[in-house]
Amino acid sequence: MEQVRAAITAVGHFLPEDRLTNADLEKMVETSDEWIQSRTGIKERRILKDPTKATSFMATNAAQEVLRKRGISAEELDLVIVATVTPDMFFPATACLVTANLGAVNAWGYDISAACSGFLFALSTGARFIESGKHTKVLVIGADKMSSIVDYTDRTTCVLFGDGAGAVLLEPDSSGHGVIDSIEHTDGTQWSSLCMLGGGSLNPPSAATLEARMHYLHQEGAPVFKSAVKGMADVSAQIMEDNNLSGDDVRYLVPHQANLRIIDATARRMGISMDKVMLNIERYGNTTAATIPLCLADWEADLKKGDNLVLAAFGGGFTWGAAYVKWAYDGSNHV
Ligand code: UT7
Repeated sequence: MEQVRAAITAVGHFLPEDRLTNADLEKMVETSDEWIQSRTGIKERRILKDPTKATSFMATNAAQEVLRKRGISAEELDLVIVATVTPDMFFPATACLVTANLGAVNAWGYDISAACSGFLFALSTGARFIESGKHTKVLVIGADKMSSIVDYTDRTTCVLFGDGAGAVLLEPDSSGHGVIDSIEHTDGTQWSSLCMLGGGSLNPPSAATLEARMHYLHQEGAPVFKSAVKGMADVSAQIMEDNNLSGDDVRYLVPHQANLRIIDATARRMGISMDKVMLNIERYGNTTAATIPLCLADWEADLKKGDNLVLAAFGGGFTWGAAYVKWAYDGSNHV
């Protein structure tokens, strides 16, 4: 009998209505549509403007779409994992708020903080609960309200990020579909090149941390770029090699959407053409933990049972990794 794997059986998403275009940003900081598009591939991002709504709101909406599509009730969920670096608050975990919003009274939950690799790390963790037989319905959500930590006077970061949420349901599969393999890495030696210094136990909020703008995301773009190109390409090539996959075997690369040039380098290293790469950075920018499930949501209708997907990400920490997923259903035909 085939071993039990964690199959993705439904995908959901949420994107706020408001758009922040490159033309809007040209009025806010010294930048240009030409610079942003040529250096990143981004044209616009979505922003959650309502100040009373935060990450749990977007995560809940994405989760509700998953439940609707799969035709199950919130009571059936066993576990809810939320990957985010923009939780509604330090504690309780965003997962607690989401389970309450959903009415997932039989589920437990927790958050994972792994920046842009958050969804991959949460997927890998959630899969273990299915493979072990402990649970049969695990909801994995990637959600970030990046606009809450972006400094809109800093042109080097404010053009990059957007808000959004994506979610998948994991269920047991014994027919060879699901998360086949994953590789995860962390290296904290360069933590300071992508971080938010203020608000934690090292630099609790104070007039001085506010004055020093420490409650905003900080990024040194060039060193992160260099590590991201190598990290994402290496780990994607590694997972293909470990699983005897050639470029022809891969139906889609599902990359974290931080920079079109990083994605391009990864695809070239994998030996696949750009028509086999899920790309929505142009429309949403970098939504941190949400990028990969947002891609899956956008491409769901096009996916076929048995398709080989390589998911890959690199982000703050540094954190990076890849997952090999064999897709479990045709289009919107949820099993
Ligand atoms: O998702 C988590 C992981 N994050 C990433 O993977 C992001 C990795 N980094 C990047 O994607 C790129 O480094 C950026 C898109 C952030 C920056 O692109 P770059 O080609 O590395 O530019 P740079 O930082 O080396 O800056 C080049 C120039 C600088 O001017 P000088 O010093 O050469 O005069 C910047 O000040 O571009 C300038 N610049 C801008 N100019 C217009 C930086 N931001 C902007 C801007 N508009 N928004």
